[in-house]
Amino acid sequence: MIPMDFIEQLKAANPIEQVMGSYVQVKRSGSLMECLCPFHTEKSPSCKIYTDGQDPHFYCFGCHKGGDVITFIREIENVGYVEAVRILAERAGLTIPMSRDDEVKYRQKARLLELNRAAARYYFETLCMEQNAGLQYFISRGITPDIVKRFGLGYAPDRRDGLLQAMRAKGFRDEELVAVDLAKRDEKGRIRDRFRNRVMFPIIDTRGSVVAFGGRTLEPDHKPKYLNTSDTPVFKKGETLFALQLAKKSQSKRMILCEGYMDVIALHQAGFDTAIASLGTALTQAQCRMIRQNADELVLSYDSDGAGQRATMTAINLLREVSVATKVLQIPDAKDPDEYIRKFGAPHFRKLLEHAVDATRFLLDRCKAGIPIEDENARLIALERSIDILAQIENPRAREHYARSVAQEYEMRMESIESGIAERLATKQRQEKRQEKRKVHTQQMYRDPLNPTAAEHSREAKAEEQLLCFLFRYPDELERVTAQIAPEQFVTELHQRIYAEYLQRMQPGVQFSLSVFSEAFTTDEIGYITGMIERHKEIYLSVQVAQDCIEILLAYEPASKDAGDLDDDAFRALFANLSDR
Ligand code: UTP
Ligand code: MN
Repeated sequence: MIPMDFIEQLKAANPIEQVMGSYVQVKRSGSLMECLCPFHTEKSPSCKIYTDGQDPHFYCFGCHKGGDVITFIREIENVGYVEAVRILAERAGLTIPMSRDDEVKYRQKARLLELNRAAARYYFETLCMEQNAGLQYFISRGITPDIVKRFGLGYAPDRRDGLLQAMRAKGFRDEELVAVDLAKRDEKGRIRDRFRNRVMFPIIDTRGSVVAFGGRTLEPDHKPKYLNTSDTPVFKKGETLFALQLAKKSQSKRMILCEGYMDVIALHQAGFDTAIASLGTALTQAQCRMIRQNADELVLSYDSDGAGQRATMTAINLLREVSVATKVLQIPDAKDPDEYIRKFGAPHFRKLLEHAVDATRFLLDRCKAGIPIEDENARLIALERSIDILAQIENPRAREHYARSVAQEYEMRMESIESGIAERLATKQRQEKRQEKRKVHTQQMYRDPLNPTAAEHSREAKAEEQLLCFLFRYPDELERVTAQIAPEQFVTELHQRIYAEYLQRMQPGVQFSLSVFSEAFTTDEIGYITGMIERHKEIYLSVQVAQDCIEILLAYEPASKDAGDLDDDAFRALFANLSDR
């Protein structure tokens, strides 16, 4: 359990409007702040941010999400309570006071990171010792000593236990090497180095920790060409970008995304210090979010082969979802950026970079690629696909600009292009409306399951809500209320849990805050509580009102069974009694 006073300190250091402002555009008018809700699709803002009271929070009147800044992070980053606290602590430069269990886990992770760092040093030192196949390899690819150092490149010797011996000598246990995927056991249970006779690329996260490795074989046809660390307690492949720790420090906010380690390295060596790569997998949503946080613009510079071009299309669509301005760089006469720079030099690559086309242009060009001018049918299909792409452009002027060029390209009147776009937009709007309706509808259905018994006990549920809100507002009244009513005497299940948690967590003299519920409740439930508080904001809640609520709850008696509930035997018995008389 994370102590409440730390949570309050954390929230003070992370003003909710600032944190939310880094995800959505927050509009301020006077003391009221609002934004388009990031949790459902909408055209006008129904998500309000309240910062005037002592417990800053947000609430969306459209989808009923709500809560404090921790709940917001849980929702938007899709993480648990502890992870959300960690994200906010890091954002504010605070250290989380930890329980013994957490402390142990944290120590273990820290040790694994220490091991990775020691291993990187070992590979680096092995590379730099005179004469070895790794050094020769890097030299043959034109890598300079300066770059070897900047990237911490290394060499894993062609031995079964080179790393093992070195790490044992430093006091690391075999199981720790297995845990970070640097060693593995063979069928006979013998432990072996995982990376052998490979040049090593350490993967370093933005905090500077060595989290994983990629290793390239030195034998021409050996498979796999690159061996990578699998996911470990300190590494998730889809949530890491190679060289981001370097690119982040650049003056430039225009990042270059490539496919391979060697591409990134060649680009940095040629002076393009914002080159990054995803790690041998298709770009993930988490990686897109990391790019959005660190870059203003992204230039996709994948391999020029078919796979690279298809990956480019997929990446464009993913990046559009997180609104990263994206361009595409095409590499003529070479398979990848590394080869291009070796063939033609850095100045030529800079030209390519300057001529990178907007992602839309790339997609439009792809529609007609390879279609002979005389194939009318194919051209019409390409035209329809182009209009699909035009309809996805948000900015109306950009849309008109590209529409004009499509009209010219396919020798169509501008009006028919425009009506094609209009058709698609209308369809899209209909779909969105239907979806929004369905969403609100399901959310209404969904709200009841949070507290299902409230519907049949509406009078008691209302009394409970008022009583809870009274307690949130006047924590000092807690003692008087608990003396009269226990949690078990609450009628509806969710309100009962809220009351019980509140009793357990609240201490005398402390102000109420939504964080009381962070640990034990889901984000939906916290949204429910926030909504409840919002609805009672303007309602007068006096001691007398609270007393009336208590009376209602104390007077409640579960309905006695009526004849319909009796089973057959009981029913017959009842009948027998009656006829006896
Ligand atoms: P490429 O095969 O294009 O490699 O894979 P490359 O970067 O051009 O490598 P060189 O120039 O031959 O040395 C691109 C990226 O895909 C991942 C690696 O991250 C690599 O850099 N990959 C490739 C793997 O993870 N495993 C493989 O077996 C191959
Ligand atoms: Mn290559």
